[in-house]
Amino acid sequence: MSQHTLPELPYPYDALEPFISRQIMELHHKKHHQTYVNALNAAEQAYAKASTPKERIALQAALKFNGGGHINHSLFWKNLAPSKSEGKGNGGVIADGALKNAITQTFGSFENFQQQFTTATLGIQGSGWGWLGVDPKTGRLEITTTANQDPLLTSVPLVGVDIWEHAFYLQYLNVKADYLKAIWSVINWEEAEKRFTEATSGARL
Ligand SMILES: [Fe+2]
Repeated sequence: MSQHTLPELPYPYDALEPFISRQIMELHHKKHHQTYVNALNAAEQAYAKASTPKERIALQAALKFNGGGHINHSLFWKNLAPSKSEGKGNGGVIADGALKNAITQTFGSFENFQQQFTTATLGIQGSGWGWLGVDPKTGRLEITTTANQDPLLTSVPLVGVDIWEHAFYLQYLNVKADYLKAIWSVINWEEAEKRFTEATSGARL
Protein backbone atom coordinates (compact mmCIF):
# COMPACT_ATOMS: atom_id res chain seq x y z
CA MET A 1 0.00 0.00 0.00
CA SER A 2 1.10 3.55 -0.60
CA GLN A 3 2.97 5.27 2.15
CA HIS A 4 2.36 8.85 3.12
CA THR A 5 5.38 11.11 3.01
CA LEU A 6 6.27 14.48 4.47
CA PRO A 7 5.68 17.16 1.81
CA GLU A 8 8.44 19.69 1.18
CA LEU A 9 7.83 23.16 2.52
CA PRO A 10 7.14 25.54 -0.39
CA TYR A 11 9.65 28.07 1.09
CA PRO A 12 12.79 27.97 3.26
CA TYR A 13 12.42 27.48 7.01
CA ASP A 14 13.32 31.10 7.77
CA ALA A 15 11.09 32.60 5.05
CA LEU A 16 8.23 33.49 7.39
CA GLU A 17 10.40 35.48 9.79
CA PRO A 18 9.93 37.64 11.75
CA PHE A 19 6.33 36.42 12.10
CA ILE A 20 7.10 32.73 12.54
CA SER A 21 10.64 31.85 13.52
CA ARG A 22 12.90 29.42 11.73
CA GLN A 23 13.15 27.34 14.90
CA ILE A 24 9.37 26.88 15.07
CA MET A 25 9.11 26.05 11.37
CA GLU A 26 11.91 23.47 11.50
CA LEU A 27 10.55 21.66 14.53
CA HIS A 28 6.96 21.93 13.37
CA HIS A 29 7.70 20.50 9.93
CA LYS A 30 10.56 18.05 10.57
CA LYS A 31 9.42 16.72 13.94
CA HIS A 32 5.71 17.27 14.50
CA HIS A 33 4.42 16.75 10.98
CA GLN A 34 6.84 13.87 10.38
CA THR A 35 5.52 12.16 13.50
CA TYR A 36 1.93 12.35 12.20
CA VAL A 37 3.08 10.90 8.88
CA ASN A 38 4.94 8.02 10.53
CA ALA A 39 2.09 7.21 12.89
CA LEU A 40 -0.48 7.38 10.08
CA ASN A 41 1.55 4.94 8.01
CA ALA A 42 1.87 2.60 11.02
CA ALA A 43 -1.87 2.80 11.73
CA GLU A 44 -2.78 2.14 8.10
CA GLN A 45 -0.44 -0.85 7.98
CA ALA A 46 -1.94 -2.24 11.16
CA TYR A 47 -5.44 -1.64 9.76
CA ALA A 48 -4.60 -3.55 6.60
CA LYS A 49 -3.45 -6.50 8.68
CA ALA A 50 -6.35 -6.38 11.14
CA SER A 51 -8.64 -9.35 10.74
CA THR A 52 -11.51 -8.58 13.09
CA PRO A 53 -13.91 -5.65 13.52
CA LYS A 54 -12.61 -5.18 17.05
CA GLU A 55 -9.04 -4.78 15.83
CA ARG A 56 -10.15 -2.29 13.19
CA ILE A 57 -12.25 -0.29 15.66
CA ALA A 58 -9.28 -0.09 18.01
CA LEU A 59 -7.31 1.72 15.28
CA GLN A 60 -9.93 4.40 14.54
CA ALA A 61 -8.58 6.96 17.00
CA ALA A 62 -5.02 6.67 15.68
CA LEU A 63 -6.20 6.94 12.09
CA LYS A 64 -8.27 10.03 12.84
CA PHE A 65 -5.63 11.80 14.91
CA ASN A 66 -2.63 11.14 12.69
CA GLY A 67 -4.56 11.29 9.43
CA GLY A 68 -6.00 14.64 10.49
CA GLY A 69 -2.56 15.82 11.57
CA HIS A 70 -1.12 14.97 8.17
CA ILE A 71 -4.01 16.53 6.21
CA ASN A 72 -4.09 19.69 8.32
CA HIS A 73 -0.35 20.35 8.30
CA SER A 74 -0.05 19.64 4.57
CA LEU A 75 -2.61 22.40 4.02
CA PHE A 76 -1.15 24.72 6.67
CA TRP A 77 2.24 24.98 4.93
CA LYS A 78 0.47 26.01 1.73
CA ASN A 79 -1.72 28.46 3.63
CA LEU A 80 1.39 30.44 4.58
CA ALA A 81 3.73 32.51 2.43
CA PRO A 82 6.65 34.90 2.93
CA SER A 83 5.23 38.31 3.75
CA LYS A 84 4.74 41.24 1.46
CA SER A 85 5.39 43.63 4.34
CA GLU A 86 8.96 42.26 4.60
CA GLY A 87 9.41 42.39 0.83
CA LYS A 88 9.75 38.62 0.70
CA GLY A 89 6.61 37.53 -1.16
CA ASN A 90 2.87 38.03 -1.29
CA GLY A 91 1.96 36.71 2.15
CA GLY A 92 -0.70 38.73 3.95
CA VAL A 93 -2.09 40.37 0.83
CA ILE A 94 -5.57 39.58 -0.42
CA ALA A 95 -6.07 40.74 -3.98
CA ASP A 96 -9.34 42.10 -5.33
CA GLY A 97 -11.33 39.17 -6.62
CA ALA A 98 -14.04 36.64 -5.90
CA LEU A 99 -12.79 35.56 -2.49
CA LYS A 100 -12.30 39.09 -1.21
CA ASN A 101 -15.78 39.98 -2.45
CA ALA A 102 -17.27 36.94 -0.71
CA ILE A 103 -15.46 37.77 2.54
CA THR A 104 -16.62 41.39 2.43
CA GLN A 105 -20.18 40.35 1.63
CA THR A 106 -20.31 37.73 4.38
CA PHE A 107 -18.54 39.53 7.20
CA GLY A 108 -19.06 43.21 6.32
CA SER A 109 -15.37 43.94 5.80
CA PHE A 110 -12.04 42.16 5.66
CA GLU A 111 -11.19 43.62 9.09
CA ASN A 112 -14.43 42.24 10.56
CA PHE A 113 -13.59 38.85 9.12
CA GLN A 114 -10.12 38.93 10.71
CA GLN A 115 -11.63 39.92 14.05
CA GLN A 116 -14.25 37.14 13.95
CA PHE A 117 -11.70 34.55 12.86
CA THR A 118 -9.34 35.58 15.66
CA THR A 119 -12.09 35.52 18.29
CA ALA A 120 -13.29 32.08 17.22
CA THR A 121 -9.77 30.65 17.07
CA LEU A 122 -8.76 32.18 20.41
CA GLY A 123 -11.83 30.55 21.91
CA ILE A 124 -10.53 27.04 21.26
CA GLN A 125 -9.96 25.29 24.55
CA GLY A 126 -6.77 23.28 24.33
CA SER A 127 -5.37 22.34 20.94
CA GLY A 128 -7.12 22.73 17.62
CA TRP A 129 -7.48 24.61 14.36
CA GLY A 130 -9.23 27.77 13.22
CA TRP A 131 -10.75 27.64 9.74
CA LEU A 132 -12.16 29.70 6.94
CA GLY A 133 -14.13 27.27 4.82
CA VAL A 134 -16.58 27.39 1.96
CA ASP A 135 -19.67 25.26 1.38
CA PRO A 136 -19.13 23.98 -2.17
CA LYS A 137 -22.88 23.71 -2.82
CA THR A 138 -23.89 27.22 -1.80
CA GLY A 139 -20.60 29.13 -1.95
CA ARG A 140 -21.28 30.26 1.63
CA LEU A 141 -18.20 31.07 3.73
CA GLU A 142 -17.89 29.95 7.31
CA ILE A 143 -15.52 30.56 10.18
CA THR A 144 -15.27 27.49 12.35
CA THR A 145 -12.91 25.55 14.57
CA THR A 146 -12.01 21.93 15.12
CA ALA A 147 -10.50 20.28 18.18
CA ASN A 148 -7.23 18.35 18.32
CA GLN A 149 -6.25 17.29 14.79
CA ASP A 150 -9.79 16.90 13.50
CA PRO A 151 -9.84 17.98 9.86
CA LEU A 152 -12.53 20.33 8.58
CA LEU A 153 -15.34 18.22 7.17
CA THR A 154 -18.34 20.59 7.20
CA SER A 155 -16.93 22.72 4.41
CA VAL A 156 -13.93 22.91 2.07
CA PRO A 157 -11.01 24.51 3.94
CA LEU A 158 -9.56 27.69 2.41
CA VAL A 159 -7.36 28.78 5.31
CA GLY A 160 -6.49 26.74 8.39
CA VAL A 161 -4.52 28.09 11.34
CA ASP A 162 -2.77 25.73 13.73
CA ILE A 163 -3.42 26.79 17.33
CA TRP A 164 -1.49 23.98 18.96
CA GLU A 165 1.15 25.32 21.34
CA HIS A 166 3.88 23.76 19.18
CA ALA A 167 2.89 26.25 16.44
CA PHE A 168 3.77 29.35 18.47
CA TYR A 169 5.08 28.72 21.98
CA LEU A 170 8.82 29.03 21.25
CA GLN A 171 8.27 32.57 19.95
CA TYR A 172 5.07 33.85 21.49
CA LEU A 173 5.08 31.85 24.75
CA ASN A 174 1.55 31.76 26.14
CA VAL A 175 0.30 34.79 24.21
CA LYS A 176 -1.87 33.18 21.54
CA ALA A 177 -3.33 36.57 20.61
CA ASP A 178 0.08 37.86 19.45
CA TYR A 179 0.60 34.76 17.30
CA LEU A 180 -2.84 35.17 15.76
CA LYS A 181 -2.13 38.84 15.08
CA ALA A 182 1.23 38.05 13.43
CA ILE A 183 -0.10 35.26 11.27
CA TRP A 184 -2.13 37.65 9.10
CA SER A 185 1.17 38.91 7.66
CA VAL A 186 1.97 35.46 6.27
CA ILE A 187 -1.38 34.09 5.13
CA ASN A 188 -1.20 32.94 1.52
CA TRP A 189 -4.37 34.44 0.04
CA GLU A 190 -3.40 33.33 -3.46
CA GLU A 191 -3.68 29.72 -2.29
CA ALA A 192 -6.98 30.49 -0.55
CA GLU A 193 -8.35 32.12 -3.70
CA LYS A 194 -7.32 29.09 -5.77
CA ARG A 195 -9.04 26.74 -3.33
CA PHE A 196 -12.14 28.98 -3.30
CA THR A 197 -12.36 28.94 -7.09
CA GLU A 198 -11.93 25.16 -7.26
CA ALA A 199 -14.47 24.52 -4.52
CA THR A 200 -17.14 26.81 -5.95
CA SER A 201 -16.65 26.24 -9.67
CA GLY A 202 -19.71 23.99 -9.72
CA ALA A 203 -21.68 25.97 -7.14
CA ARG A 204 -24.86 27.89 -7.74
CA LEU A 205 -23.73 31.20 -6.32
FE1 LIG B 1 0.97 21.75 14.21
